[in-house]
Amino acid sequence: MKTLIRNISSLVGILPEGKARLQGEEMGRVEEIRDAYLLIEDGKIASFGKETDLHEGINEDDDLTLIDAEGGMVMPSFCDSHTHIVYAGSREGEFLDKIKGLSYEQIAANGGGILNSADLLHSTSEEDLYKQASARVEEMIRKGTGAIEIKSGYGLRTEDELKMLRVIRRIKENTPAIVKATFLGAHAVGRGYTMEDYVEAVCEEMIPAVAAEGLADYIDVFCDKGFFSPEDTEKILRKGMEYGLVPKIHANELDVSGGVQVGVKCGALSVDHLERTTDEEIGCLKGTDTMPTMLPGSSFFLGIPFARAKEFIGEGLGIALASDFNPGSSPSGDMRMVMSLGCIRLRLTPSQSFNACTINGAYAMGISREAGSITVGKKANLIITVPGITLTTIPYMYTSPFIRKVILSGKSLNPHEDIWSRITPDFA
Ligand code: NIG
Ligand code: FE
Repeated sequence: MKTLIRNISSLVGILPEGKARLQGEEMGRVEEIRDAYLLIEDGKIASFGKETDLHEGINEDDDLTLIDAEGGMVMPSFCDSHTHIVYAGSREGEFLDKIKGLSYEQIAANGGGILNSADLLHSTSEEDLYKQASARVEEMIRKGTGAIEIKSGYGLRTEDELKMLRVIRRIKENTPAIVKATFLGAHAVGRGYTMEDYVEAVCEEMIPAVAAEGLADYIDVFCDKGFFSPEDTEKILRKGMEYGLVPKIHANELDVSGGVQVGVKCGALSVDHLERTTDEEIGCLKGTDTMPTMLPGSSFFLGIPFARAKEFIGEGLGIALASDFNPGSSPSGDMRMVMSLGCIRLRLTPSQSFNACTINGAYAMGISREAGSITVGKKANLIITVPGITLTTIPYMYTSPFIRKVILSGKSLNPHEDIWSRITPDFA
């Protein structure tokens, strides 16, 4: 199966093989080819270059599907490395409380927040949860996301955490997007537990059960004021590592928590949120393999500080941006909006924000060998834009539709048609 995309005004996000992430000054560069073609074979990028270098004989191949980009730009799909899209119902009531002036912490302290979602999830069947989460996946795909990390953490007891992770596994098996699963049992202390008992349950009951079914790739902990301490966080991450789970972390959303340091010490793949960081956190990330990941959608929605993205980059670090799609602090999985907030509120250039949403997002979810850039051999997960779009138009015209077609593993879909029925393994 071959697909040839022709008439591309600009093919952007080209990286050489083996480039896993971009850091410091590199983040400001985006390689492009103008007037380009791209050839897909068996769902992967087989070759690309100037349209004038395309040998005409290729059109005679019987096995070839032609796509005319009609002068649109072609870019890699977004890689959203931090989401909580398996949840039940919504938290609209809390939204109203926030409008009235209650903070995220006050809502949580009143027994709302994550515990509210846990109650709802408990009374929702696995089938229903799957349907609700799948609709979110569909929306994200339409909006240009080709890879999604999904966390558990609204179960907060063994059976319900497993229920969530089984839903994630089913999503993994049934969507054309790349999916990675993260066990976040330590998202909040489940109802009826003391902190001590809960940490014990996460370590001795949940992690072994999750590992026994092979349900997760990563382990995450919410290390923050009012949630898990750096000591308990380390204990949980190390237990997860014993079972082959790679650490990630939620830190410094509500306070300077010490979570970044614990994450780095445990070799975390990413440390996420970072709305409140000091120079010490920036210093501690230098020279490590850990990707600082920022979630400007939650800063926007909660009205909390935006992360110091430019300073991280100025110190030579790479950063990733992700949606944090969840019902409490970021009810949106729109990575284009994230890219826009990267520019408008984090003051990143469009190139920096684009790289943070693509290749560095891929790194933060452990898939930079298969996605996140235009590179021969990577999955053909692509966005074809409407004509007249540049990399700058995307964050600038931040609500205008810019996607004409989405291609996942070489198969194309039109984001305006009803694609839900087509999100199956034989999606074609
Ligand atoms: O990443 N900070 C912790 N977890 C989520 C919010 C979860 C929720 O409120 O439901 C986050 O913002
Ligand atoms: Fe989160």
